[in-house]
Amino acid sequence: MTYKELIKRAEEAMWTAYAPYSRYRVGAAIECRDGTVFTGCNIENAAYGECLCAERVAAAKAVSAGRTDFMRIAVISDSDEYCMPCGSCRQFLSEFSRDMEFLCARKDTSYVCYSMKDLLPHAFSSEILY
Ligand code: THU
Repeated sequence: MTYKELIKRAEEAMWTAYAPYSRYRVGAAIECRDGTVFTGCNIENAAYGECLCAERVAAAKAVSAGRTDFMRIAVISDSDEYCMPCGSCRQFLSEFSRDMEFLCARKDTSYVCYSMKDLLPHAFSSEILY
């Protein structure tokens, strides 16, 4: 799948966002090594702390379908700024891939590309656990 196609999948998911509080819609599309794509949107809640980010919704759908071989993720919002994944999403995704790519897009679908190492250097990982 091309980068533009993956961003298009994220954009489609963005329109399903449930974001009545922030009105900031986010869509994400994760591509696995064989080209399978899982999408997600942000899902907010009146108890604000329970809000789910689009990236983690997409990742949870993938993991619950038995897939953790993430190659890249596209993230987009309906804003003029590039949509950067929050720190929690970076950490959550780093559990599954230390070398995935992030395509961070804005509403006109232009994007900037980063690696996991760019966005989360010196990550906390299971290697240091007992
Ligand atoms: N949000 C995401 O979906 N992904 C991020 O990486 C950052 C923030 C959502 C959460 C909330 O619904 C809205 O954007 C505003 O913070």
